[in-house]
Formats: sequence, structure tokens, C-alpha cells
Amino acid sequence: MEVIIVDAAADVGRMAARIIASTVSTKSAAVLGFATGSSPAGIYSELAAMVRDGALDLSSTTGFALDEYVGIPAGHPASYAAFVQRDIVGPLKMRTGSVRVPDGNSADHDRGCLEFENKISRAGGIDIQILGIGANGHIGFNEPTSSLKSRTRIKTLTQQTRTDNARFFNSQNEVPTHCITQGLGTILEAKHLLLVAQGEQKAQAIAAAVEGPVSSRCPASVLQFHNRATVIIDGAAAGLLELTDYYRHAFRSKP
Ligand code: GLP
Repeated sequence: MEVIIVDAAADVGRMAARIIASTVSTKSAAVLGFATGSSPAGIYSELAAMVRDGALDLSSTTGFALDEYVGIPAGHPASYAAFVQRDIVGPLKMRTGSVRVPDGNSADHDRGCLEFENKISRAGGIDIQILGIGANGHIGFNEPTSSLKSRTRIKTLTQQTRTDNARFFNSQNEVPTHCITQGLGTILEAKHLLLVAQGEQKAQAIAAAVEGPVSSRCPASVLQFHNRATVIIDGAAAGLLELTDYYRHAFRSKP
């Protein structure tokens, strides 16, 4: 795992966007995996600026979102389908319909999840998967004790996640209790995992994910099994790591 500690929170998005742009420049029909939430917002605004300046073209790029709430209409402003349209497809000038989002309103979730997995396979897999991390260590919506081999499926959200995400809704009661999420096994199949985090409220989850034992107690620790995982964090999110001197040295002396 490569751990990159940047000086300021805003540098997280800049650094991650550069890595993504470089992947897209070597493979024009790249398949991107998108995370929602606040952590990757800087990535999307950096990529949008590159697209506006003509430095990046994502018109042949397709993608998949990690997750979706169950039971709110796709048009609801807090739905991840709405996020993808508003914060990704539009500003990044991607083709309409080029980013698939799990269907939170399917009449048959098992079947919908299987079809979502099949679409990822038919697209040739995900080249670079953007990930945020929940304060409890979740990635996507894989809450603690998710199977490390799990596939896309329906999950029950923890109270902590519902509280953390209440800011996107009018009240906590409005936050759905269930979601559809790519599984940890699904996420591990992406060719490159790029996890970003900012702020001290993520420090404990980052320490557990990067330096703790691999355990479903901290689902993000499964990144330790991946052969190409990059973690980009600011100093506050790195606050509880023990080996920061080594990470900084390794980055500075990278060939
Ligand atoms: C949400 C999303 C995750 C996201 C995480 C952190 O619940 N399902 O994909 O990474 O929580 O969110 P934020 O970046 O807003 O802190």
C-alpha cells in the first residue's frame, strides 16, 4: 500500500485527480469507479477544471458508482444517482448514462445486484476505483463485519452512518435504513484502489485500515490485500498513524 500524506486537505483532491487523469490518458476508454460523499469532492472539482481547460477528455470514459440508498427515488437530491449526475457526469462532461449506479428501487434486489456485477464484468472491470472512508472504517457502504469476499448486495446501515449522513437529508429520520453496495470482493477486483480522506474525524479509521490487522471490523483494512492501493490523506487524517516518517520518506524518494 502506498500512503501519501499531503500538506493541506485541498492537496488530496489535486493529487488524486492527477493520478486519475494519468490513467485516463493511457487508456481513453477507461472505466472509473466513483465514490460519493464529501471526501472525493475535491477530486471531481479538479477533474472538472481539467476538462474545462481542455487538458482532459472523459467523453469515452464510463464508470460505476459504489452504492445507493434503498427506497428513495433516483431524483431525490440525496440519492447517489442524483449525486453522480450533478457532481460527476455533468461537470466532467461525460456521456449521459455512462455511469451506472446500483438500483435502490429494484423489485428484485438480488437480481439487480447480479446484473450490476455483470455490467462491471462486461465493461472489462474497473481501472481505478475512488474510495472515501466512513468514520467506522466502511468503504462503499460495507459496514463493519461485512464479509471480506462480499459482492454487490443489500446491506443495513449502522446508526453511526445514518447519523453521519443525516447532513444530506432534512432530518435523520429521512435517512434510509438500507442500501445497495458493491461488496468488498467486488471492490478488490478493481485494478487500482485510490482511497482519500481528510480531517481528524477520519484518523482512527485510517490508522485501523492502514496499520491495523486485516479485519472485517474495519472493512477498509481489506485494501491491505490489494496489490495496488494508494491512500492519499492530509496531516489530520494521518494523525494516528505510527509510520508517517516512513511514508513521507518513501514518497519523497520515489523513483
Ligand atoms: C458514505 C458513502 C461512502 C463514503 C463515506 C464517507 O456513507 N457511502 O462511499 O466514502 O460515507 O463519506 P464522506 O466522504 O462524506 O465522509
